[in-house]
Amino acid sequence: MSASNIINKYDASNINVPNSMLNWMRSNHAGETGAVWIYLGARCIFWNKKIQDMTKKHYETEKCHLIVMSHILPKNYYSKLLILWRILGFSLGFFSALLGYRFFCLTIQSVETFVEKHYEEQIDFLYENSISFELLRLLKKCCDEEVEHQIDAKLHKGNDKNNIFEKFWSNLIGSVSSLAVNISKQY
Ligand SMILES: [Fe+2]
Ligand SMILES: [Fe+2]
Repeated sequence: MSASNIINKYDASNINVPNSMLNWMRSNHAGETGAVWIYLGARCIFWNKKIQDMTKKHYETEKCHLIVMSHILPKNYYSKLLILWRILGFSLGFFSALLGYRFFCLTIQSVETFVEKHYEEQIDFLYENSISFELLRLLKKCCDEEVEHQIDAKLHKGNDKNNIFEKFWSNLIGSVSSLAVNISKQY
C-alpha cells in the first residue's frame, strides 16, 4: 500500500495538530519510530520462525502508524533525537528476540501496555477539552491497534506467570518508556 493510501485509510489527510498537542505528537512520532525499529531489530533473529511471524504482522501496522504520524506532524517539530529512538528500538527488538520467543512476547506486551496508556491520556485530554475530533479518532484507531499487539503478545507468551526477572524487565520497560516520552516531548 502506498503512503497516500495509508494516510487515507487512517483518515489523516486533513488533520491539523492543535498547538496544545504538538509535544504529545512529537513523542508519538518518536515512539512509532522506535516501534518500527523494534521489529527491524527482531527481524535479524531470522532463524526463529515464531518471532518472524509476529514481527511481520506487527511491523506492517507500526509502519502505517509512522507514516501517518510523519504526515500530520510538521517536519520542524520532529524529535531531534530520532537517531537515538531508532538505536534504542532496534536494540530492544534485537536483544529481546535473541533471548527467545517468550521473552520477546513479554517485551512487546510491556511496550504496548505502556503505549496504550500513553495514547489514552491524549484521547482523554482531547475528549475532555473537545479539541480536534479528527485527531482523537486517529489516536483511538492507533491505540486499538496497539492493544491488538498487546493481546497477541500476551496470548503467545504462554500461561506461565512472570518470574521475578520478567516482572523486573516489564517494569523497567515501563519506566524507560516513560522517560523516553518525557524527553521526546521536549527534544
Ligand atoms: Fe504503533
Ligand atoms: Fe505498537
